Amino acid sequence: MNANDVRDKFLARMKNSGHEVVAPASLKLENDPTTLFTGSGMQPLMPYLLGEQHPDGQRLANSQPCFRSQDIMDIGDNRHTTFFEMLGNWSLGDYFKEFQIRQFFDFLTKDLGLDPSKIYATCFIGDEKLGIPRDSEAAEIWQKIFEEAGVSNGIADIDTAEAGDKRGIKDGERIFFYNDKENWWSRAGGIKDTPIGDPCGPDSEVFYDFGPEAHDPSFGKAHPASDSGRFMEIGNQVFMQYCRLPNGSFEELKQKNVDFGGGLERITAATIDSADVFKTSLFTPIIKELEKLSGKKYLETTEEMRVIADHLRASVFLVTQGLVPSNKEHGYVLRRLCRRAILKAQKLDIKDNFFAQIVPIVTEVYKDAYPELAKSEKQTIEVLVREETQFNRTLTRGMKELTKLKSGGLTGNELFKLQDTYGFPLELSLEVAEEQKIKLTSKWRAEFDAALEKQREASRTATKGMFKGGLADDSDLTVKYHTAAHLLGAALNQVLGHDAEQKGANINAERIRFDFKADAKLTPEQIKAVEDLVNEWIAADLPVTHEEVDTDYAFEALHAHGVFRDKYGDKVIVYTIGEGDSAISREICGGPHVAKTSEILKSGRFKVKKEEASSAGVRRIKAILVK
Ligand code: ALA
Repeated sequence: MNANDVRDKFLARMKNSGHEVVAPASLKLENDPTTLFTGSGMQPLMPYLLGEQHPDGQRLANSQPCFRSQDIMDIGDNRHTTFFEMLGNWSLGDYFKEFQIRQFFDFLTKDLGLDPSKIYATCFIGDEKLGIPRDSEAAEIWQKIFEEAGVSNGIADIDTAEAGDKRGIKDGERIFFYNDKENWWSRAGGIKDTPIGDPCGPDSEVFYDFGPEAHDPSFGKAHPASDSGRFMEIGNQVFMQYCRLPNGSFEELKQKNVDFGGGLERITAATIDSADVFKTSLFTPIIKELEKLSGKKYLETTEEMRVIADHLRASVFLVTQGLVPSNKEHGYVLRRLCRRAILKAQKLDIKDNFFAQIVPIVTEVYKDAYPELAKSEKQTIEVLVREETQFNRTLTRGMKELTKLKSGGLTGNELFKLQDTYGFPLELSLEVAEEQKIKLTSKWRAEFDAALEKQREASRTATKGMFKGGLADDSDLTVKYHTAAHLLGAALNQVLGHDAEQKGANINAERIRFDFKADAKLTPEQIKAVEDLVNEWIAADLPVTHEEVDTDYAFEALHAHGVFRDKYGDKVIVYTIGEGDSAISREICGGPHVAKTSEILKSGRFKVKKEEASSAGVRRIKAILVK
């Protein structure tokens, strides 16, 4: 089946069952400190999922273009794409589990004609300690549905994905219970990470079975929640029935919602019984053109062609929405997509500009569903070809330099110069060196790192003077307050559900004054939750570290917060509190800070003295440390 048919059939079914098809939100998000792009269909509907009345009623649906930049490095396998369309439907306090599960099953089996024996479901196993019961309700609905469809309906507890890798599935089993890592949904992953105030709940995911021949045994035994290739998730039904309270517990929501999302690319792949989304109608014309341009076959150059096709399709959508490649934020992500596509194309020996050939193919695929692509095609080509030409020039210059240096073995300083002066990235030099059998001197790495460090040191001195972050002097107490201010920002993000945007801070040896974006006064419970979190982190003795990085890298890869978005130079210092993935704060800041949060403890406990309005939509907190 063609992807356009799948999209049309979904929206037609939704209309027939009383859903209003709402316009999708724009891909590019402005003023969201947590993410640059719309990454799921529910994101723009957050206020309504929390209880606000939607003007179009209680049943909504659409196909939402989404972009997940965090997946860029995963592209190349058979199922990941940076851009995708999420078919979505929502019940805002209207229908619940039974209607939803039946509706999606009927869509798959009746509208799309999928074989019911290839459909599998998962449900949430429950968390006794947190008072969340096992979702037997959803499992029983599935049992009935599978029985009516004349297929097996056995239930099994798997719990963790790792347990599943060892156990696999047994004959007759079709419904599987997993823990919160697989079957709990909030905007932040596992049940314990659920942001305070966020709607959340158990989910029931639906998988399509591509059969044992699609299974890669290096992942362990096959079961739905594994990446082994046999089962692919084609839909997620979230039953939003809880809200997280400031004390960490969960309360039943008055309004119970359904949030359903399913990837159009993957559902279409199921209809053609191919585990490769790049074989759907959304990609085949692009792949065909790449085969023509390179004279190579998809089968032999699968990974490269997938990356190019994915990145260029995403780029066309982003440029259509007004983005241009740049060195900051959204524009930087777009630039990365273009450059990665060009580097992969070089591997396929596509030497000439080729973006101009691909854009019209993408617009042709989408011309009915997204006529705006065709309308701005000329401009899209212009923007992308400009970027392509510019990067190709960089590559040519770098290659020329590199070949000049070829004879004596490349030194670290030469590699640094290639990157710094010619914009020729280190990874690329290394790749070319390997391909052309150019030797590297034995100490190249240490030399390269030393040159990089020297350059960082120079700009560190420069940034330090520029961004003191409101720090009036660096007496001992002020430094502690400064670190506490970062903790306060992180606590506000968590308690308010990631939307506290810092609007300014003023810190001296007596207090923190901290302004942030919020529409309403904080409740006493929220203030208490903020204080508790900050004190908990202070007591946890978290390390405070800093590094100097490229500004793009700080925003894009580290997702650091920065108050002066447009005013930074090329390099910034990022202060991190906590370690690795569990870091609780990353801020662009000139410092100084304490080395460990427990140092703050010596001056007392963190306390909010006052919470008041500062200006329209901006609240102000004054906080102190008290013994
Ligand atoms: N919001 C749910 C998801 O992203 C449907 O999986």
